[in-house]
Amino acid sequence: MKLWGGRFTRETDQEVFAFNASLPFDRRLYRQDIEGSIAHASMLGRQGIISPEEAGQITEGLKGILRDLEEGTLEFDESCEDIHSFIETVLTARIGEAGKKLHTGRSRNDQVALDMRLYAREQIDEISSLLKELLTVLLGQMEKHVETYMPGFTHLQKAQPVTLAHHLGAYFEMFSRDRDRLADCRRRMNYCPLGAGALAGTTYPLDREYTASVLGFYGPTRNSMDSVSDRDYLIEFISDLSLIMMHLSRFSEEFILWNSNEYGFIELDDTYSTGSSIMPQKKNPDIAELVRGKTGRVYAALADLLTVMKGLPLAYNKDMQEDKELPFDAMDTARSCIRLFTGMLATTAFRTDVMEKSAARGFTNATDAADYLVGRGVPFRDAHGIVGRLVLLCLEKGISLDELPLEEYQKISPVFDASIYEAISLKTCVEKRITLGAPGPDAMREVISQYKKELEEEGRL
Ligand code: ARG
Repeated sequence: MKLWGGRFTRETDQEVFAFNASLPFDRRLYRQDIEGSIAHASMLGRQGIISPEEAGQITEGLKGILRDLEEGTLEFDESCEDIHSFIETVLTARIGEAGKKLHTGRSRNDQVALDMRLYAREQIDEISSLLKELLTVLLGQMEKHVETYMPGFTHLQKAQPVTLAHHLGAYFEMFSRDRDRLADCRRRMNYCPLGAGALAGTTYPLDREYTASVLGFYGPTRNSMDSVSDRDYLIEFISDLSLIMMHLSRFSEEFILWNSNEYGFIELDDTYSTGSSIMPQKKNPDIAELVRGKTGRVYAALADLLTVMKGLPLAYNKDMQEDKELPFDAMDTARSCIRLFTGMLATTAFRTDVMEKSAARGFTNATDAADYLVGRGVPFRDAHGIVGRLVLLCLEKGISLDELPLEEYQKISPVFDASIYEAISLKTCVEKRITLGAPGPDAMREVISQYKKELEEEGRL
């Protein structure tokens, strides 16, 4: 049934109907739509706008529809334009006259604005708790690898030794910020647009405070035109999702590298990798590749919604119906990517021996050799030059700085003595990095205990 047949004398063209309809994708808002309608109807009853009996009938009718949709005994009827008309049509068919009063003092514009907010708010909560699981798994891996040495890279070239805990800790920071951003977005969006009507409020004595509080909002929104035409919160949310995906994609890229034959830093669990149909030896990091690849879909939703909104005059315009398909896809994508990445991380075996060997090669201790000279009064710039020459010598000989005989050191600078070997050992290089935020195990343990406390106390949310 249509909600607006009265002023028309001819039927809508079929293709126009299909083009205009949103039921194929807004059906997923059925729970939020019913929840919002129950709040609205009970407010109408309390305010004497409809009778308490009518409000009761509407509420019971809506609860029945919710139950039947969840149990699969009621199917969506494609002849309805959208989820709002579908539910109102079923309600009126079931309870009669009272059903026709549900839409008193309401427009689909404030109705859909409410439904989307309720939906987005739930999604924010769910994604935040998925991120919490990811952070918990990350922290578990970090605790195990405070003394697992590995090369740190800049320009994808070995730079200085770090630890695996330290490397993973960088992602812990990223995903913590992501959770913060979600919490921030939730706080800003948590105001109720119901009661804004089509755009100019209504002439009924609605109790907007009541519906806002029943629906878990801090309060009602304060400008009815903004209420029906604001999608900022969705843009913020999808931008938060884009950052999450960007972080997951970088992490995936590292997993792919680490899983390569050349690196060999990790062994993916069989349950989280796939094979090749032709090459029997293959064990591919498809999950990481897909997470990296799906990032584009989430960015696309962000670019899409920003573009949809940029030219819209106030207040509601049908363009805004486009705030659903791509954003829904972005939310689904982010949820499944976080969940799968978490599983992959939890089951991955880190090949600590390979990491450590790799850290010991590639002159990751060259800075420490220069610092050794600085400690003995050589200006840093001179020390840098001296160690550069030593590196060149090692490269010619195909050895590492640890393997270079003391005479060779002393030929280039008499400041060296046998203590150089201790000073540039992998262990020393990492353990001396003791400032807050550095990979030294003591500094790292301190940070890990802060993370742990924060997660336990939810200090950051
Ligand atoms: N399906 C519409 C949407 O998603 C619902 C609001 C319709 N409002 C209107 N004035 N036609 O935006």
